[in-house]
Amino acid sequence: MTYAGPDITAELGGAGMGAAVARNPLTATAPSDVIAEIDGVSVEALMQEYGSPLFVLSERVMRQRAEAQRRAFRERYRKVEFAWSFKTNPLDAVCRVFRSEGWMAEVVSSYEYGKARQLGYPGREVIINGPYKREATVRRALGEGALIQIDNWDELLMLEGIAAELGGPFDVGLRVMIPTGRAPTWSKFGFSATNGEAHQAALRLIRNPALRLHTLHTHIGTYVLDPEAYRVATQVLLGLREALREETGHLVGCLNLGGGFASDSLLHGMAGPASSVIPSIDRYAEAITGPLNQLPARERPLLRLETGRHLVDNAGWLLSTVVVVKGRGQPRSAPPEGVAAKTGWTGPAELPQRPGYVLDAGVNLLYTASWFAIQASPAQPGAAPVEPVRLLGDLCMEIDVIREHVYLPRLQTGDRLVLHPVGAYNINQSMTFIHLRPAVVMIDAQGRPRVIRRREELADAGSLEETPEKLARSA
Ligand SMILES: Cc1ncc(COP(=O)(O)O)c(C=O)c1O
Repeated sequence: MTYAGPDITAELGGAGMGAAVARNPLTATAPSDVIAEIDGVSVEALMQEYGSPLFVLSERVMRQRAEAQRRAFRERYRKVEFAWSFKTNPLDAVCRVFRSEGWMAEVVSSYEYGKARQLGYPGREVIINGPYKREATVRRALGEGALIQIDNWDELLMLEGIAAELGGPFDVGLRVMIPTGRAPTWSKFGFSATNGEAHQAALRLIRNPALRLHTLHTHIGTYVLDPEAYRVATQVLLGLREALREETGHLVGCLNLGGGFASDSLLHGMAGPASSVIPSIDRYAEAITGPLNQLPARERPLLRLETGRHLVDNAGWLLSTVVVVKGRGQPRSAPPEGVAAKTGWTGPAELPQRPGYVLDAGVNLLYTASWFAIQASPAQPGAAPVEPVRLLGDLCMEIDVIREHVYLPRLQTGDRLVLHPVGAYNINQSMTFIHLRPAVVMIDAQGRPRVIRRREELADAGSLEETPEKLARSA
């Protein structure tokens, strides 16, 4: 028997949760409607003006999502504050939209902290998370009144040292790791709630005169499909808070339940539509505020949330163009005269795959395509019949597959295809790889498109490079 080594195939593009299910025709999502306009602006006009591919964001949708979340929580619980999770989409214009909605900033690096300050957030409106915080940033942040949510013992020791040196007292938060039993546990972050670690760390902070334990925080995951997981997390944080009060008399003033609410994206293999499988924001709000509202009013903590995906994913589209049609055989049905005799070729080959469309956008722009079955909608009415096809990117890489299996009307080279939702974690994780990155346009609340990140040029790609003199002089 000959050994066949493992293949790196297109299936890698649907790796993890997607690989097997993406090949199963029963799990292919239903054909999408035509998207000819976004916020009243023609897709074709946008592409004529700003090129293809093109990321488009809707200010209207972002504000709508912010308002719906605000309403869902405020009508159940008045003491609530919201923070915008920068890493989801840190473009200036996007951050400014959420800032103008009254959202604080939630950042996870020195870069993001610097950016928040540059955008005008005062330190006290910034929450700092992440598994590793640089000492210089911690010093700066404490001095500027930002809230550091401590992730681990090394960090806690560092904070103790800096606080003692600077004098304090400084407000800090503590990240708690909570297995909810209802969603996969994120185990990389925080102090465990189940082995006593979180309790120990909290006691140590409470007893340190240079620090004040302001917040108990958890972030149980992203795209959490079971709102009840938040109920469990809230109850665990409340239990810890109560135990600390009994032991020390200190009642922690703030619970921060992190982010994680789902957008309308569907994972590979998930049967839609989104409206029937994605929980409403009200269900998340109910699960979190239910346990809080059982406390006597004067003991209710300030509630904070750090939302990313849910606010911006639905607000983003990637407009693309079909550049190649694959797998329909040759345009000519018979071999040119004389060819058959010389080569033995008798006509179009049997096709190995379902037909596919190569788009001028690939996984270099759609990092999340590995997990999410990004919806594809033609921008023009299609000719029947709708058929199952593959959507391929234009990278010279076999793994560059956006969808293994999606139903679309027949398309031709030059047709436009709209990919949605892609507003979260794609634009900032896109990369200059094989191609330069496209422009990002935001359609403002009055329906006017504006470039918020211009298309990359060759000079941009090379702008950080330096060539050793000797090499520069050689041919
Ligand atoms: C600590 C923290 N807060 C908030 C978020 C935002 O999560 P999401 O985009 O799922 O709302 C993240 C993202 O993973 C995070 O790590």
